[in-house]
Amino acid sequence: MPISRIPMTFRINATEHALELDPRMTLLDALRNHLGLTGSKKGCDHGQCGACTVLVNGRRINSCLSLAAQHEGDEITTIEGLADGDELHPVQAAFVAHDGFQCGYCTPGQICSAVGMLEEIRAGWPSYASTDGAARPDALTEAEIRERMSGNICRCAAYPNIIAAIRDAAKEV
Ligand code: FES
Ligand code: FES
Repeated sequence: MPISRIPMTFRINATEHALELDPRMTLLDALRNHLGLTGSKKGCDHGQCGACTVLVNGRRINSCLSLAAQHEGDEITTIEGLADGDELHPVQAAFVAHDGFQCGYCTPGQICSAVGMLEEIRAGWPSYASTDGAARPDALTEAEIRERMSGNICRCAAYPNIIAAIRDAAKEV
């Protein structure tokens, strides 16, 4: 029996989208295959690499682990929606300034994850690396960033420059 499609609407990068989707489709596949937003990458498709990270209502998620149908009415931001016109988001600009990528495949996920992570710090979310339970952006240590970004793998091992970029961007966002 054919699987029926379900109608849904969500806001992606500040634009309303109405789609009819197979209820089994992941958010990542909906973004890439139905909306042409190919910035979010498919690395492992198993929640292990972070290449597919996007922001949903401001929080970072692995879009390969989430069904599109779960996001009715949600506000989704992908790497394509972070810049303000020609002006890069501070985290994007810092990645360029610090040479935080090599092949660039992991970069959209790294940047979206960093944006979400900096917001989590601002909100006082603890991490295993925090001794006081809530690191401040001005006291962001390398250990803190490594722990909070541990869901994002870079096969080129551009980690030192990624960390430098995030530390720099933390002062501006
Ligand atoms: S593609 Fe989603 S975590 Fe790897
Ligand atoms: S820059 Fe190549 S995987 Fe990260």
